[in-house]
Amino acid sequence: MDRGFLFGDGIYEVFPVYNGSILGLEEHLKRLQEGLDAINIVNPYDKKKWTSLINKLVSYHQKNSKQAIYLQVSRGCDDDRKHTHGTLKPTVYMQSSPFKSPTKNGLLKGSAAITRDDIRWSQCDTKATSLLANIMFAQEAKNHSVEEVILIRDGIVTECSSSNLFLVKNNCIYTHPKGPFILPGITREMVIDCAKYCDIKVKEVAFNKGSLMGADEVWISSSTREIVPITCIDDKPINNGKVGAIWSLIYDRYQTIKSINI
Ligand code: PDD
Repeated sequence: MDRGFLFGDGIYEVFPVYNGSILGLEEHLKRLQEGLDAINIVNPYDKKKWTSLINKLVSYHQKNSKQAIYLQVSRGCDDDRKHTHGTLKPTVYMQSSPFKSPTKNGLLKGSAAITRDDIRWSQCDTKATSLLANIMFAQEAKNHSVEEVILIRDGIVTECSSSNLFLVKNNCIYTHPKGPFILPGITREMVIDCAKYCDIKVKEVAFNKGSLMGADEVWISSSTREIVPITCIDDKPINNGKVGAIWSLIYDRYQTIKSINI
């Protein structure tokens, strides 16, 4: 009778952990709080309690140098399956899984993506566990042997099935602005910080598929994939299929931030 199971009525987070150290803990906990507030679930724990629970789970898996901590807070169990609910006790589920991020050499080979209409709801900034559209897109990417599905809503490129998207044109980085149509990725924010550090201009503005296809560079970002260059979209090469120099700079800076964090 858990509403997480019955309705996908819950919020989740994924925390990347490198050598026992959680990257972006504060930011992920803040987004968790915002998600819970958005769907009126009372956060069962305060920041201190979450931190100690996550660290405890991390400590059980110290053998894995990279862990993805997944946590889910569902609205809780009811006594019947009805769409409406009363006041319930939220259910907390947590797990740790090892994750691999590719080496820079591996990434330099480039990756492919396909585009699809973004048919998701218009509250994509809420990290809800109900991910049906996202998982269907991800499966399509898998079936096409590509890295990601790039989503387009009313002609505007939003993000991907489970990552944010960036393009580079004339040495300026572009990404969709925050709002209801994208998840405010923690890695996205770190990429923007990396760009500032490297003195590269970032514009958070909407752009269309034409701009995407004519970009000098395209990349995606997520906590578990880090920053992946996309060199082919819908079977057409981006920048002659070459990985770009700005990606390389940002990628290197991100690796430094990770090591400072450890
Ligand atoms: N997904 N956009 C979507 C739709 C996502 O699902 C994710 C992350 C991101 C990137 O967010 P972040 O940088 O905070 O990881 C953007 C996680 C990893 C997942 O669902 O497993």
